[in-house]
Amino acid sequence: MTKIAEIKREAAEAAGSAEVAQYLLEDYYDWTATQVMMEGGREVKPEEEEELRKMIARLKSGEPLQYVTGKAYFRGRYFKVTEATLIPRPETSELVDWVLEEDTEKAKVLDIGTGSGIIACSVKEGRPEWEVTGLDVSEKALEVARENGKEAGVKFVSDDILNLQDQSILDEIDIVVSNPPYVLEREKESMERHVLDFEPHLALFVPNDDALRFYKKIAELLKESYGRAEKKRTLFFEINEAFAEETMDMMRRMGYEEVECRRDSWGKERMVRGILGKTGKLF
Ligand SMILES: C[S@@+](CC[C@H](N)C(=O)[O-])C[C@H]1O[C@@H](n2cnc3c(N)ncnc32)[C@H](O)[C@@H]1O
Repeated sequence: MTKIAEIKREAAEAAGSAEVAQYLLEDYYDWTATQVMMEGGREVKPEEEEELRKMIARLKSGEPLQYVTGKAYFRGRYFKVTEATLIPRPETSELVDWVLEEDTEKAKVLDIGTGSGIIACSVKEGRPEWEVTGLDVSEKALEVARENGKEAGVKFVSDDILNLQDQSILDEIDIVVSNPPYVLEREKESMERHVLDFEPHLALFVPNDDALRFYKKIAELLKESYGRAEKKRTLFFEINEAFAEETMDMMRRMGYEEVECRRDSWGKERMVRGILGKTGKLF
């Protein structure tokens, strides 16, 4: 009979990490770290062994632990993730922090390219009085987002931001936040295999010759909506650090004011914010 300690050793070998093996067992049995250690001598039931071995095989293939367990930790809670959604990145939490600095009691917020809904849910959890909607083109990602946002009360809509069916969705919005696909196709070569092989390419890549595809479209759509409903809007982007200047120039040219960039904790230019209609006019 196989013991917990043996399974843990196999998982550590497969993942190349004792920490991952520890998390796998904590998650599978819903145990604390201490329990995993204390139960080392316990025999694994045959049905458990079968499930755990399947998970270990997935880890061995390079699949990230978050997809194997179906959940990822972000800002103090677990979010459901599947192969249709990106695994949350720590820098995205810094973008959420920036959005939450907005000094307004009431706001309507739209998270474009919401994926698993981490930005939309975290903003709503930080400011429950704000009305938050997440939008994505992927129905499969939206299913996950809806589950993640159920308790917080976030609304999710299906649309393609590059070919938006319901443009009026932007008219009432005060804050738009987006972490759109921003990795260039040519950057694939330098990317790690676990990202390339397991994360959804729809969430990651843009053509080499159109790095700002999503940024331009979103900034333009928001500006058009300003033409229909004249009120201040604030736009927050997570960006590819190689295009900080281009993104800011593009926004300034469109009439966004107070365009500003922030670095993430790795020192990379990672976020941009601009305000539309702050002084009541566009130039
Ligand atoms: C970089 S991921 C961000 C996911 C999540 N917001 C996060 O920060 O982890 C980009 C997201 O944009 C979505 N997306 C890609 N093309 C889109 C489009 N044309 N319209 C709307 N969403 C799109 C993808 O499905 C993906 O969920």
